[in-house]
Amino acid sequence: MATNDGITLVTGGSRGIGAATATLLAEHGRRVVIVDIAPEAIGDPVILWSDPFDVADAQSVAVGVAAIETAHGPITGLVNAAGVFGKMNRIERVRMESWNREVDIDLRGTFVVAQAVGVRMAARRHGAVVNVASVAGMTSGPIHAYTAAKAGVIQITQTLAAEWGGVGVRVNAVSPGFTRTAALQAAIASGALDEDRLSRNAAMGRLVEPIEVAQAIAWLLSPLASGITGINLPVDAGFIAGSTWDAYGGLRERQTS
Ligand SMILES: NC(=O)c1ccc[n+]([C@@H]2O[C@H](COP(=O)([O-])OP(=O)(O)OC[C@H]3O[C@@H](n4cnc5c(N)ncnc54)[C@H](O)[C@@H]3O)[C@@H](O)[C@H]2O)c1
Repeated sequence: MATNDGITLVTGGSRGIGAATATLLAEHGRRVVIVDIAPEAIGDPVILWSDPFDVADAQSVAVGVAAIETAHGPITGLVNAAGVFGKMNRIERVRMESWNREVDIDLRGTFVVAQAVGVRMAARRHGAVVNVASVAGMTSGPIHAYTAAKAGVIQITQTLAAEWGGVGVRVNAVSPGFTRTAALQAAIASGALDEDRLSRNAAMGRLVEPIEVAQAIAWLLSPLASGITGINLPVDAGFIAGSTWDAYGGLRERQTS
């Protein structure tokens, strides 16, 4: 599944979906460098870029990407996994500082890193990018900036795929459903989200595991997906398929059990 040329850069790689993806890619023989705003090693052989890397800061992203390529070689794979969850709020309570932070990191940050890395890939006529969007970008929810930002990530994925399709750079997105990461567990612990409710509404009756998102990302980066660009692949344990069934009394197994 792996190709051994160049390195794969994973943003938000110190935790959650980014860390699971970096670990899996390294197990598949890729050279992987992780960057994070709060950098923390996740173990050999994944390489930690120890300078804090803020995807929302375009200037330091440009400087960081150049320095990473000088130190470790050309980036041929990029996983944009850095992100922050949205604040769940009634519309009256949406604070524009929160709106700006979520859009800056989740949408603008994804574009900034894709631009900095993708232009280099396009010049070398080789590369693959996977952006981590969300089912929240495909549905509605009381997380106003987050849903808009993630819908934007799905959109820029298509635009960048069209931009670079002719120069050998593929760009795809995955849209995780509710995934058992520390960030989600914190939201459950705070009472903002309810695990039973999240599981009940997914066709498979459970949360997604980080490794399952990592596997989809690894596939999209690999030559096995050589003909695929511009798609958004939900990895959601059937959340989109199942969530509307609540209107009809719930998913079958729940009705009969
Ligand atoms: N966990 C879920 O249920 C879920 C569902 C759908 C989408 N997602 C998306 O998956 C991605 C990863 O989320 P996660 O659940 O693994 O969260 P997480 O908090 O476990 O990991 C996110 C990582 O991104 C880093 N980060 C945050 N802001 C950053 C910045 N400005 N610059 C660089 N790094 C930054 C954090 O330090 C952290 O290491 C996010 O884009 C999130 O929106 C998560």
